[in-house]
Amino acid sequence: MRADGGDPGLALGRMSDGPLNIRAGAAPSPVVDAQPVLRVSGLHVAFNGAAGRVQVVEDVAFAIPAGRTVALVGESGSGKSVTSLAVMGLLPTPAAEVSGRIEFRDGAGNVWDFARLTEAQMRGFRGDRVAMIFQEPMTSLNPVHSVGEQISEALLVHRRMGRKERREAAIRMLAQVGIPEPERRAAAYPHELSGGMRQRVMIGMALVCQPRLLIADEPTTALDVTIQAQILNDLARLQDELGMAMLFVTHDLGVVAEIAHEVVVMYAGQVVESGPAAHILKAPRHPYTRALLHAVPRAGVDRHRPLPAIPGMVPDPRHLPAGCRFHARCQHAMAGRCDAEPPRLESAPDGRTVRCLRWREL
Ligand SMILES: Nc1ncnc2c1ncn2[C@@H]1O[C@H](COP(=O)(O)OP(=O)(O)OP(=O)(O)O)[C@@H](O)[C@H]1O
Ligand SMILES: [Mg+2]
Repeated sequence: MRADGGDPGLALGRMSDGPLNIRAGAAPSPVVDAQPVLRVSGLHVAFNGAAGRVQVVEDVAFAIPAGRTVALVGESGSGKSVTSLAVMGLLPTPAAEVSGRIEFRDGAGNVWDFARLTEAQMRGFRGDRVAMIFQEPMTSLNPVHSVGEQISEALLVHRRMGRKERREAAIRMLAQVGIPEPERRAAAYPHELSGGMRQRVMIGMALVCQPRLLIADEPTTALDVTIQAQILNDLARLQDELGMAMLFVTHDLGVVAEIAHEVVVMYAGQVVESGPAAHILKAPRHPYTRALLHAVPRAGVDRHRPLPAIPGMVPDPRHLPAGCRFHARCQHAMAGRCDAEPPRLESAPDGRTVRCLRWREL
């Protein structure tokens, strides 16, 4: 069953009814799991390399309750993948320096801080209670094993299931992710399947142990619009069935409108705005979020082309500007203020946060 939140501000559907398919105010069901499955706070990530130490994620925070989706949005290089990989404990060591809290609540109510677990402990979670879908299915699937074997591998590792049971579970999973003739397809190799099918296999691999938390990093970006829509629908349905918390990484605000309850907008490694998707998509407060929304291709017409660019470039994390990191690209920047004083992330009404010196006046 879906554990829908009781906060009407969070009650956002995935239905189609406006240019951005926002359905605000859907009736919330009364069951709320107040304790989030994932709570990230004060997350910092820096890389140590030949050129020295570079801070790429700074003080990122968000929480995801069961059955809810948080979308992590921002242009290329904003730190979305680094944040996701940090949660999964998949950043390269010792190059990546991770600090902060990454608290995961398991089914028994125990809280684990992933930032403090060893690699061996993390392996016990990954692919089981916590799973991830990567952007490029061909690089994540093994070409020499059938897709059925790959889906069922986690059941061997985490559940010690026998061969026959695993095979049956893999076939059931293939059916659940919408693959026709799952018995036959279980024996297929990745190169025998289309891109959309492979992405479904990836989803099946991630979900086979029924994770409490799923991280999906641009899972449909490489696919054509129709397949993308089907896969998003399937993911939403499977999320409902499993009551999973989902972190969904995307640069596409059209996708956010379809799938997310909450949005976290990142720019140059920082959160610049966060809050309920319905509010942020209807009335963004940060000039960067507004610029992103302006750049959203409308109503399926041109959804698949790359985002029309916001003028200017994302700053290099090694040479961040003084003041607000967005000021050089911001229509509303005030000389002497926005280029001098770094804005703090402030609380705003409706459960939102915003990092802009001028958000009250704008
Ligand atoms: N292994 C690494 N070593 C050094 N720097 C890295 C590493 N991985 C990522 N970075 C840097 O961290 C910053 C954030 O990268 P990240 O991959 O998180 O961006 P993103 O928001 O996922 O972008 P995209 O939309 O292109 O996937 C970038 O400046 C990137 O160059
Ligand atoms: Mg990325």
